[in-house]
Amino acid sequence: MESTMNQLSETGYVVFDRAADFYDATRGFPEGQAPAIAELIARAGNLHSGSRVLEVGIGTGRIALPLLRHVGRLHGVDLSRAMMARLRAKAGAAAIRLYEANALNLPFPCAAFDGVVLVHVLHLIANWQGVLHEIARVLKADGLLLCGGDLGNALHSATFEPIWLAWRAALPAEKVARIGLAQPIGEALPALGWRPIGEPLRHAYTVMRSPQSVYQALASRHWSSTWRLSDAELARGLAAVQEAIQAHYAQPEQPLSLQSAFEVQAFQPPQST
Ligand SMILES: C[S@@+](CC[C@H](N)C(=O)[O-])C[C@H]1O[C@@H](n2cnc3c(N)ncnc32)[C@H](O)[C@@H]1O
Repeated sequence: MESTMNQLSETGYVVFDRAADFYDATRGFPEGQAPAIAELIARAGNLHSGSRVLEVGIGTGRIALPLLRHVGRLHGVDLSRAMMARLRAKAGAAAIRLYEANALNLPFPCAAFDGVVLVHVLHLIANWQGVLHEIARVLKADGLLLCGGDLGNALHSATFEPIWLAWRAALPAEKVARIGLAQPIGEALPALGWRPIGEPLRHAYTVMRSPQSVYQALASRHWSSTWRLSDAELARGLAAVQEAIQAHYAQPEQPLSLQSAFEVQAFQPPQST
């Protein structure tokens, strides 16, 4: 565990090999929401069957596979061979051309894509500005970056705020800080000259989740935010979380309804790049 922790801080990005076995079962929106979310991404980017599309940090294809219905074919980049092996085993994967490569050095010529899809990646890469630079390079002049993500799920819902306050208070600040982008994308990208195109598009959904299931997810190190913690730090965080659960939730095993949404914003790259 300690050596994994050091590798993460040395490389400057969080590769998801260790999550391949449980990623699909533990992430984001419930399964039935995928078609609506893919439709949202396609609409935000005016994508169609002739569009050349790349997903950076494609993982297990959670986003890319449902998006195929709109674009027919797609390119995907990830550093995790294990995550992409999961994708390859799924129906439809043959229409996705996969590259084991770093988002900081995309294996494509300039102006190759009409759309680049980016979902839950920039917070994992220390040099996230370098990733944006690469994306600007591979986008065509009128191409769009399509940034998406889940809002209001277990990691972000106000319903679980007592848990996260206790978690953060129990752990060293540098261990709970994100390795990459910490600001909302809607603030960070415009500050670098990326121009939002249209309003953010949202697909609302509901997830049921109990406080105790959040504890279990932390204890099982399901979320990448736990991977930099030593066993002793994790134990300290878990003890604080258990105390907060006892203090704030009358029925810790009872699933609570979280009003969540997937949001997509299209951006045009800075004109100078
Ligand atoms: C949270 S997962 C998101 C996967 C997918 N976009 C989704 O939403 O389901 C982040 C992915 O980014 C990949 N990743 C992290 N750093 C990377 C880098 N520098 N270059 C390429 N991929 C990277 C990880 O291996 C992981 O598969």
